[in-house]
Amino acid sequence: MKFADPGRSAGKVWGEAVRAQSDVPSPLGVIGNGREIGLPAREGDNLVTRLAYDVGMARSDQLKALLRSHKEGDEQSFRTAAEEIIQDAKKRRHDLLAKELEAILDEPVRTRRPAKVATLRPLPVGRDETPLLNVRNSTKSLHDVVLAKETTDVVVGLLDEQRSRTALHAYGLEPRRSILFSGPSGTGKSATAEALGGELGWPVAHVQLASVVSSYLGETAKNLAQIFSFLESGSYVLLFDEFDMLARDRNERGDHGELKRVVSALLQLIETTTNDSIIIATTNHANLLDSALWRRFDEVIPFALPSEAQRAELLSRRLSVVRSDVDTDSVSPRLDGFSHAEVESVALDSIRLMVRNLDRSVSDEHISYAIERMEERRRTILNSNSLE
Ligand SMILES: Nc1ncnc2c1ncn2[C@@H]1O[C@H](COP(=O)(O)OP(=O)(O)OP(=O)(O)O)[C@@H](O)[C@H]1O
Ligand SMILES: [Mg+2]
Repeated sequence: MKFADPGRSAGKVWGEAVRAQSDVPSPLGVIGNGREIGLPAREGDNLVTRLAYDVGMARSDQLKALLRSHKEGDEQSFRTAAEEIIQDAKKRRHDLLAKELEAILDEPVRTRRPAKVATLRPLPVGRDETPLLNVRNSTKSLHDVVLAKETTDVVVGLLDEQRSRTALHAYGLEPRRSILFSGPSGTGKSATAEALGGELGWPVAHVQLASVVSSYLGETAKNLAQIFSFLESGSYVLLFDEFDMLARDRNERGDHGELKRVVSALLQLIETTTNDSIIIATTNHANLLDSALWRRFDEVIPFALPSEAQRAELLSRRLSVVRSDVDTDSVSPRLDGFSHAEVESVALDSIRLMVRNLDRSVSDEHISYAIERMEERRRTILNSNSLE
């Protein structure tokens, strides 16, 4: 019996099915491999298929919600849909299945480690053979970062320009590709660069500053030239993290002449490079960079500490992988002045606490404890800074 007519509502189909076959789980339609729901599960059936057969009552709207939320990466809706299916299974006395599903849902999410990229060209190396770049594929997307709307708009604009590259060429234009990310620590500068790489499907090439900056005269500029020559081998997001270190390092040595030469060599490389890559420099000491340098970048994007709404959003997203009884809107005001990275730590620490205590969900107590620990940490860092 097949109910493939899209014009019939799930509820109607459900009702007819129950009337037609009172002793077997109800057929709701055809799923997955074309078998009808309601038939016994077979070995080798995938999880969704088995779910539909075994539960026999996962409504089509529940399954649709489950798949749609997974596809859209909406963790919260995915959990809600999955929990509804589990509740249904319990109601129908499929206790074993309900337990198995709960166990799967509660399994910790395995973080995907970005794979090292096998590059066509060997990585450039410095005088002592240490690599000047660390090249990795990024698994991040813009969904992983919570940013102010204006910041997101600019970042999305950069992506759109890359995707409209050919159309821009028709007008004699190039997409913007040298960008300075400026803002406090832990506000997502590196994470956004990774997200750009993930969205474009381009590897992220992290500049290894310690290897690039050499005490030998002229060597730093040579290393930078090697990096830019490597970029010709493909499309990359070149991430020049803590760009200001280049400036500071040189300043501390009072080596201003060399610094000026290095920075202007770098800017010239950025301006004259003809490859497709995007070059992102990040700094949290924008005041150390002179205005002439700012102007040489195609775009300067400011990053700021998260607003109350952004803190709540970030907490919700990070807690969405577990059961949580926390009202993130009411917790957020307590995190005033916290960076995104600190808010994220609070969420992750409270999950750790839940696991350690063998609790089933993250509670207000877990989160309060994590906030107190983070406040202590912030005080310690503040004190040690003021002693310096
Ligand atoms: N805006 C954000 N949205 C979501 N997560 C964030 C955000 N900012 C930071 N994080 C989390 O904190 C971690 C550290 O952030 P990131 O390295 O991007 O900060 P940063 O601005 O580059 O800091 P720094 O100036 O110290 O290099 C990230 O890996 C990410 O997990
Ligand atoms: Mg960074």
